[in-house]
Amino acid sequence: MSQPFDLSASAAPDAKPTWRDMWQALLERWYAHPSLYKWSISNPFTRWLTRRRTRQLFDLMAGFVHSQVLLACVRLDLFRQLHRAPASLTELAQRTNLAPPVLQRLLLSAVALGLLEHRSHGRFGLGPLGVPLAQHEGIAQMIEHNHLLYLDMQDPVQFLGNAWQGSMADYWPYAHAKPEPAPDHNELDKFTRYSQLMAASQGFVVQEILSSYFFSEHRCVLDVGAGRGRFACDLAHHAPQLSIKMFDLPPVLAMAREYVQSKGVSDRVSLHPGSFLNDPLPQGADLITLVRVAHDHPDAVVLQILQKAFDALPLGGGILLAEPMAQSPFEQASGDASVDAYFHFYLLAMGDGRLRTPHELMAMMQAVGFTHVERVPNAMPIHAQILLGRKSRCLPSNPEKSVN
Ligand SMILES: C[S@@+](CC[C@H](N)C(=O)[O-])C[C@H]1O[C@@H](n2cnc3c(N)ncnc32)[C@H](O)[C@@H]1O
Repeated sequence: MSQPFDLSASAAPDAKPTWRDMWQALLERWYAHPSLYKWSISNPFTRWLTRRRTRQLFDLMAGFVHSQVLLACVRLDLFRQLHRAPASLTELAQRTNLAPPVLQRLLLSAVALGLLEHRSHGRFGLGPLGVPLAQHEGIAQMIEHNHLLYLDMQDPVQFLGNAWQGSMADYWPYAHAKPEPAPDHNELDKFTRYSQLMAASQGFVVQEILSSYFFSEHRCVLDVGAGRGRFACDLAHHAPQLSIKMFDLPPVLAMAREYVQSKGVSDRVSLHPGSFLNDPLPQGADLITLVRVAHDHPDAVVLQILQKAFDALPLGGGILLAEPMAQSPFEQASGDASVDAYFHFYLLAMGDGRLRTPHELMAMMQAVGFTHVERVPNAMPIHAQILLGRKSRCLPSNPEKSVN
């Protein structure tokens, strides 16, 4: 199955080169000049740039080693242990059952990457990048989970030709069009596993939404693809006037019931099992939220979900869509370009979804009838960017698009 991808539409093989193309070609020829490297490191004004580029290239080459150092530290539980108290190499060797000379390689590598730090008397403590890893279980779980992606990508070229056959595609039971599996134990385990991972990793995204958007004008929110209900429960505490509906697949909501009860909000949070592929969305909410849902699905499904959201909303209702989004070469940078490479490959390994730019998602929202579509600025776009749209109370300017 081929993925719809917008870049092919914009390619024009016979187009004349622009001034920018010619400038870039000139720069490329200049960078490739055999004596440039030697000249630039001998010149104090250009040396910093050459050092920086060399360092960036080295980091790209070494990226796999860096992520394995991270994974080894997580698996040995070093971050949580060292958060309690710094420890010496000998103490850590006893706790991890690893020989000091080899463990030392790991610890020194982790120090070099800012994960750990040298402390007094030969002990090791947490470095600046190690502190969040000790505090947020969700990050550690994502690092462990990424192992599946890296397994799939061992041969990246083969992976590109065969992306949906690996461990990641198997991990996500809904993300790739395949025959409906029988709901056996194995399949139910998959729903439990991914829902647990999503709940653990959703904290930063929830914080972005709650600190960027005022929910005070709403009385009922429907969270579509709600998972176990972390967002719904945090929102219920954040905005006590709200009643909240959760919509997700039946096996997921079966798990959510207990979670919602444990958070003490079951009187205001109701569960609505179903599939947005086959069922309409429940009515009654004046805001529908889609948190980390659209990027899991191909364009046709995203349009279908948006259309169902539009149909379920009253006039004046809104939609809030939050997820990691791609940089666009045509828009002012608002996110963080370094996350794009990760999500392009993650979503490819997972199934039929893709990373979209805010512009693409806004166009899809408008295509089903939402108006006043805008970005909701937030502090940390690396976790998610946020878009808002309205089901306008005004008559549509396009008479073919009628609202109910
Ligand atoms: C990536 S998870 C995000 C969960 C949660 N919103 C979060 O941010 O942690 C996507 C969610 O969409 C749900 N989902 C996938 N396909 C669905 C469908 N056809 N109908 C309803 N929910 C679906 C999944 O079960 C999952 O809970």
